[in-house]
Amino acid sequence: MGEVVSTQLEFQEQLAEVDANRVVAAEYQSRGRGRFDRKFESQRSLGLTFSIGLMPARDRNEWSWLPLLVGSAIAESLNDQLFSTNMVMTKWPNDIVDSSGRKFGGILTELRGDGLVVGIGINVLESGEELAVPHAISLAMVSSPVKSGEISREDILAILLEGIRGRYEHWLAKGSDESELARYRESSLTLSEEATREVRCELPGGRVIEGRVRGIKGDGRLLVEGDAALHEIQVGDVIHLR
Ligand code: BTN
Repeated sequence: MGEVVSTQLEFQEQLAEVDANRVVAAEYQSRGRGRFDRKFESQRSLGLTFSIGLMPARDRNEWSWLPLLVGSAIAESLNDQLFSTNMVMTKWPNDIVDSSGRKFGGILTELRGDGLVVGIGINVLESGEELAVPHAISLAMVSSPVKSGEISREDILAILLEGIRGRYEHWLAKGSDESELARYRESSLTLSEEATREVRCELPGGRVIEGRVRGIKGDGRLLVEGDAALHEIQVGDVIHLR
């Protein structure tokens, strides 16, 4: 698609059967949305902005794993196809980052009736100056084939959709089983130094929890030990302290 307000809005309020597994990608969003109603800005035709409609045939309580699965699938498939290292990682809950935490993009998941819409924004061709925030990074800044156009944005979209499809199908069959959790841990910067990583969790309403990451649950909750208690963080922003 050319220009839209937000690819998230291209899906009807009540996600119909016909919308399930549909992908909408746009060259430009005039009002792209981030988590917590933040703006998500991206330059025309430089990044990838797309949304996927899903109606998962699993218990609704399990759907909270899906944003983590999608982020992890993105990291895994980009590392497999473009890099020989873990260049792309996830930061809990919804950021796609490099190993120093610079942001390649993010994921926004919204419930729609009987389904959900997963929106993905990734910086691809932007130069440093073209990025909206200073701690951002694009794939072209770390991949010569992407920068030269040898690997196009369409190629990357195909890589991502294939990676997401594989992980989603596994999850539909097995849920957040041990192999799914292991693949998530492998791609996660937040969990990469599990038991030592110190984080600051800013929760909705202003509450702050600081502590050490202790693990992840199959419904996506992050386990953080602080103030002599084990907290299960469901929603919030996480800042890596160490
Ligand atoms: C975040 O970092 O807070 C999440 C950003 C999600 C952005 C994507 S771009 C495609 C889809 N359409 C939107 O308006 N937002 C998501």
